[in-house]
Amino acid sequence: MKLLVTGGAGYVGSVCTALLVERGHQVTVLDDLSTGHADAVSPSARFVEGDVATHAAALLAEGMDGVLHFAAKSLVGESVEHPELYWFGNVVTSLKLLEAVRAAGTPRLVFSSTAATYGEPEQIPITEDAPTRPTNPYGATKLAIDHAITSYANAHGLAAVSLRYFNVAGAHGGLGERHIVETHLIPLVLQVVTGQREHITIYGDDWPTPDGTCLRDYIHVRDLAEAHLLALEHATAGAHRIYNLGTGTGFSVVEVIEACRRVTGHPIPAQVAARRAGDPAVLVASSARATADLGWRPELTSLDTIVGDAWQLIQQRAGVA
Ligand code: UFG
Repeated sequence: MKLLVTGGAGYVGSVCTALLVERGHQVTVLDDLSTGHADAVSPSARFVEGDVATHAAALLAEGMDGVLHFAAKSLVGESVEHPELYWFGNVVTSLKLLEAVRAAGTPRLVFSSTAATYGEPEQIPITEDAPTRPTNPYGATKLAIDHAITSYANAHGLAAVSLRYFNVAGAHGGLGERHIVETHLIPLVLQVVTGQREHITIYGDDWPTPDGTCLRDYIHVRDLAEAHLLALEHATAGAHRIYNLGTGTGFSVVEVIEACRRVTGHPIPAQVAARRAGDPAVLVASSARATADLGWRPELTSLDTIVGDAWQLIQQRAGVA
């Protein structure tokens, strides 16, 4: 297929682009490099540097078979402090993209949604029917876009899929997390190993979980990318399908730190601090719908594999592996 990938220089977008070109798709990446990296874009893809609001319409007018929309702002804390960046950067931009899709008659859309659309869950594992009550502007903006996509699919015949990511981690094909502002657990723990920080802070050990630290569902970026390809294939005109993507297993913060110790051989000092505002105790996905409809099954589910792949890439970048 001839595809437009917005945000294809970012973490998940770049891995997905690599997989798409590997499978023979003709990919144009549109990314303004505000958080992405030009060298993460597959050399087999065409790269256009620019923002979605300004440039997507002309690219879609070339006649694309689909668009995968990764470009977004995605920091929960930042979204609380600067909601305007999220309402304009995520919602207004995505509405402009939807209008460009409609004008060009682009048949398919795959959208990067998030577990943050659910907020504090009532039931674990979280299914797609769970109430959506986001607890921060980041989740609220992604949910607003999901609603817009539903109405565009219903009214204009778009074949749309939203993928709700849980905790994405790991690396694939030399591509991994490289955030300027890092807030995610696994890269922060590995920064202790590389000497960029002295210890890892555990945000609370008094949660209602077996070891008192929060449980999250860590999904390997490669498995996540595979789901995008399946979503593209299975998207149906006039329908908007939503899928949760995780492994169905929760690992605690302490278990993640222990996996990092096993993989790296470093003692990784940890210090317990207060809970972080807005953290739910447990976030674990039910991906039964993605398995049933798309035939998707995560394969790289071992925490040591996920951490090991992230660690291998860090060493490669440092020139020691
Ligand atoms: N954590 C620590 N110390 C740190 C960093 C994180 O203890 O230095 C803990 C957090 O409190 C949390 C877990 O590690 O319990 C994972 O935290 P991350 O920041 O890596 O990920 P989140 O679960 O907060 O975020 C994920 C997605 C977001 C999404 C959110 C929904 O990355 O995009 O779930 O709540 F919005």
